[in-house]
Amino acid sequence: MGKFYITTPIYYPSDKLHIGHAYCTTVADALARYHRVKGDDTFFLTGSDEHGLKIQRKAAEKGVTPIEYVDVIIANFKLLWQKLNISNDDFIRTSEERHHKVVQDALQKIYDQGDIYKKNYEGLYCVPCESYWLERQLDENGCCPDCHRPVEKMQEESYFFKMSKYQDWWLQFIEENPDFIQPESRRNEMINFVKQGLEDLCITRTTFDWGIPVPFDKKHVVYVWFDALLNYLTGIKYGVDDEFFKRFWPADLHLVGKEIVRFHSIIWPIMLHALSVEMPKKIYGHGWLVVDGAKMSKSVGNVIDPLGLIDEFGADSIRYFLLREINLGNDGNFSRDALIQRINADLANDLGNLLNRTVAMIIKYHGGVVKNAKVNGAVDNDLINLAQKTVADYTKQMDNMDLTTAVKTVWALIGKANKYIDETAPWALAKDESKAGELQTVMYNLAETLRLVAIMAEPFIPDAAPKIFQQLGLGGKELRLADATWGGLPDGTKVEKGEPLYPRITIDEDGNTIIGGKKYVPPAN
Ligand code: ME8
Ligand code: MG
Repeated sequence: MGKFYITTPIYYPSDKLHIGHAYCTTVADALARYHRVKGDDTFFLTGSDEHGLKIQRKAAEKGVTPIEYVDVIIANFKLLWQKLNISNDDFIRTSEERHHKVVQDALQKIYDQGDIYKKNYEGLYCVPCESYWLERQLDENGCCPDCHRPVEKMQEESYFFKMSKYQDWWLQFIEENPDFIQPESRRNEMINFVKQGLEDLCITRTTFDWGIPVPFDKKHVVYVWFDALLNYLTGIKYGVDDEFFKRFWPADLHLVGKEIVRFHSIIWPIMLHALSVEMPKKIYGHGWLVVDGAKMSKSVGNVIDPLGLIDEFGADSIRYFLLREINLGNDGNFSRDALIQRINADLANDLGNLLNRTVAMIIKYHGGVVKNAKVNGAVDNDLINLAQKTVADYTKQMDNMDLTTAVKTVWALIGKANKYIDETAPWALAKDESKAGELQTVMYNLAETLRLVAIMAEPFIPDAAPKIFQQLGLGGKELRLADATWGGLPDGTKVEKGEPLYPRITIDEDGNTIIGGKKYVPPAN
């Protein structure tokens, strides 16, 4: 048994959360749930990144204070994560007092040791990315090289963090820890970036005030990224509860989108090094979700609202789709057609039918009681062997964060179990008195396969997994990977008929979504 501390980025309060935001959180949640099922002492942190010029301007446009502006949005974030079955252990808001203290103490410490100095800054700034740029780093149109929007000239007195001093340390650390930045393409990008020369980082601003006051010079507020990154320490009580902090630090995984790997793999380790805090284990940069081939944006009008989608199709279906369709390091495409296809084929058909048929047959043939006559022949052993191999492969793949492959591995077992029904033809066995033992064995093997499937699939479809247990007669039992060994389903277990896990979905001629035969009507709001 180990421990697992995983974080998502803390999101900027944006009035338009889209399915791309839900992607990162879903992946992190699947990993956190996997580690819990595995028995690891797990902490999963997400939250909101509320300071900075971008938010201050948006609040001003709406004629409200920044905190009034973000409060409403954060309530919506929390609702979304709840509806998506996200199992975060805490939600950190950078506007909270507990976070201000961590940031101010960290800044003071670095200042006291001489790693911060004051100078007049003249440079370029991308407000949407909250990021400083040099002339030579801009794109061919003179815009932000990350988001390609115009940058602003800024000129003010600022405090600087001596990042350049740590350039050699960083290069050596990355060389000695080749797994620190993943995937490898991102790692090489970062090494090239640093080799071109690391600049000192401007970490305070004076021309706006929506930020954490600098403890040694109160007319300054802290640069939003310097503030935001420290949330990963605040969330596990750094400087407040040493025992708790040591229980989870170093973070096992900072999961982030590819455009912010630079902040997490260069600035963050150097901040931690300056603070004499141990390095996290891994920074993983995932790809972007695009919609029908194009990056989501308000101006293109292809922003998909995750709350609406969850209401229409259910959290499990969205989660399953994201995890099954998108390879973690790559960009992936979202389309309603592909989503509906996956729901019908993999969830309603393969998994839902397998459970339905199995429970119905056990009720019909054996009054709902599972017994194992253990008369296994070649067909039965095939299934049993695959089930055991599936648990082993799945564990390895999840440990390697290869979620897409892990999903496919579990669904291959489901496919095999469906085939096993055709091969063993229980309806024929039921007509032959002399095959009573074989029929019992087949029913047991099916129920047992479903038990293992439920345990392995919990991180992907946390809504259905306990329902599968319920129908198998294991209602209320904990799902634990340690119990995923063949033969664990006790003789005499009584199954329970339940609702179909996933109704079939069709689209009618008028474009209406028909779910399980009924027309879907979006909630009025
Ligand atoms: O960057 N597909 O916040 P953010 C996949 N506050 N992921 C996407 C996406 C898409 N289409 N669009 C956005 C910030 N994301 C900072 C983080 S952490 C100390 C501070 C992901 O709200 C994006 O890649 O702009 C990022 O990882 C996350 O959403 C938050 O983005
Ligand atoms: Mg962003």
